[in-house]
Amino acid sequence: MVKTIYEYDPVMDDLWISPGDIDERLDFQAIFGNDAPVEIEIGCGKGRFILAECQHRPEVNFIAIERSLKIIRIALLRAAKFSPQNLRFLCLDADFTVKLLIKSRSVTAYHVYFPDPWPKDRHHKRRLFNPRLLQKMAETLLPQGKLKLKSDHAEYYNDACDRILDSGLFERVSEHQSHEVIEDFDEADRGASHYEIKWRKEAKTIFSSEFQVKSQSNLSEK
Ligand SMILES: C[S@@+](CC[C@H](N)C(=O)[O-])C[C@H]1O[C@@H](n2cnc3c(N)ncnc32)[C@H](O)[C@@H]1O
Repeated sequence: MVKTIYEYDPVMDDLWISPGDIDERLDFQAIFGNDAPVEIEIGCGKGRFILAECQHRPEVNFIAIERSLKIIRIALLRAAKFSPQNLRFLCLDADFTVKLLIKSRSVTAYHVYFPDPWPKDRHHKRRLFNPRLLQKMAETLLPQGKLKLKSDHAEYYNDACDRILDSGLFERVSEHQSHEVIEDFDEADRGASHYEIKWRKEAKTIFSSEFQVKSQSNLSEK
């Protein structure tokens, strides 16, 4: 039995966007009560990255998308301990969310850290990045908006980068490989997600790339 699935803190109600209440594309101004830039994490897991990030950058609003209720509840319980005003959770499929619920030109960055690699050939169709999703990510990003990707799985990482670049919608602005083994994570490692810490402790190579959406003048809105 997973204990946290039965835990409840009323503060959690203010921290998540209830899918049942969504009847149009998300209005970030109404959700956060301000016009601050919005960054989205896809597959936030237990929330380590986004919980640290929202505290260190209060001038930015964050949406954490995670399709597993069991997992997102752990992140929500952690967030309820300090009630961040600039963070909301959404328990939905990210593919569906980006394609149907995000307004054009409304997001400054997408963070995608350690997405499921689906290593078997017959499962590759389940991989996150598909042409339509990339089209929607590009449309929903503001000019100079970023797509940030990290993975420990070389074949998956190369395939994801190929899909992103082959879309013709993004250009790579930085790429990095980290082989550094880190035992103790502290303030300096704030940008690390749960899986990044796990793999770096095991001395796995971490591959990361940052992409910027190309000029959107020729992107059609669909
Ligand atoms: C390997 S975990 C990585 C979690 C976190 N990003 C990290 O680095 O620690 C991948 C997470 O993405 C979630 N996920 C996978 N596909 C998703 C989708 N289409 N929409 C939302 N979440 C998804 C999974 O439920 C899982 O929690």
